Amino acid sequence: MHLPVGRALRQPVGSFLDVELGDKTVLVTGATGGLGTAIARALAERGATLVLSARSPDALQELSDSLPGEHRVAAADLALEGGAERLAGDAGDVDCLVANAGMSGTGNLESFSTEELTRAIRVNLEAPMILARALAPGMVDQGEGQIVFIASLAGKSASPRSSIYNATKFGLRGFALALRTDLAGTGVGASIVSPGFVRGAGMFAKSGARSTAGLGTTTPERVAAAVVRALERNPVEVAVAPIRQRALAHLGMAIPGLAVRAQSGGIAKRATKEIDAGHRAAGSAGSRHRRARSRG
Ligand SMILES: NC(=O)c1ccc[n+]([C@@H]2O[C@H](COP(=O)([O-])OP(=O)(O)OC[C@H]3O[C@@H](n4cnc5c(N)ncnc54)[C@H](OP(=O)(O)O)[C@@H]3O)[C@@H](O)[C@H]2O)c1
Repeated sequence: MHLPVGRALRQPVGSFLDVELGDKTVLVTGATGGLGTAIARALAERGATLVLSARSPDALQELSDSLPGEHRVAAADLALEGGAERLAGDAGDVDCLVANAGMSGTGNLESFSTEELTRAIRVNLEAPMILARALAPGMVDQGEGQIVFIASLAGKSASPRSSIYNATKFGLRGFALALRTDLAGTGVGASIVSPGFVRGAGMFAKSGARSTAGLGTTTPERVAAAVVRALERNPVEVAVAPIRQRALAHLGMAIPGLAVRAQSGGIAKRATKEIDAGHRAAGSAGSRHRRARSRG
């Protein structure tokens, strides 16, 4: 079917206008993290009923108790084989999915064991795919639903010491865009939210690194507002970052040769080394599973 371009672009958004979150059940993965907590709060404040997921049942219960409304918790380790399938079963019927769980996965490629590489791919890419595969059919049967994938500007343009992370986020964006085309006309939407560097909470803040060359940062609350907008209005993608970061990421997509040359220079290498060192020092998800031995 070939719709005129203007109509094709408008149609999915128009059909999702005025989605009321107050009567929706939303599964949020990575709910205990810096962005997940802000997302959960924003959704709960709009009256959504949440199924909150991460690995620690205690942290999830504490989060649930702190939110307005009644919510469920469903602990799951998405890095384990079968973890995402089990979570989909435990979550039961949900109207929407926010696939937010992620790990940083920074570091030079050779510093990753095969097991660590697999974990990063599972958590950041495979789990969102499996959750979408498991939950989308129920949404299609209802004739409505929304899946929001938390990607990153790292899914648009690549940086040093980020090959694994970039691969998972580029992959996630491609998956989400293609899934959206498959779901067109079903009443179920798929959106991407792509944050840049986030201050105050989350994996970048925990690394203690500064934003590269004054590119600025955004906040968990802005990311959460973008997720609310994605659930309500089904945009294709929302980039959440100051204008210079967004412009550079989009330039990187349009002219990858130029971006790779810029990212191969000293400034970018120093910045990403700082982020990687911060993740290791903070014992964040990306470094916790790294091999103990140092490669100097
Ligand atoms: N912060 C940023 O600057 C930034 C920028 C762009 C994109 N993002 C993306 O935003 C999302 C959220 O990141 P964040 O900054 O909030 O990170 P975070 O604070 O480190 O939180 C990560 C969340 O993912 C969960 N998680 C990690 N490994 C898991 C596993 N094996 N199984 C199940 N859950 C797991 C964590 O829960 P437990 O550890 O308790 O299991 C936690 O709830 C990620 O997809 C990230 O790539 C973040």
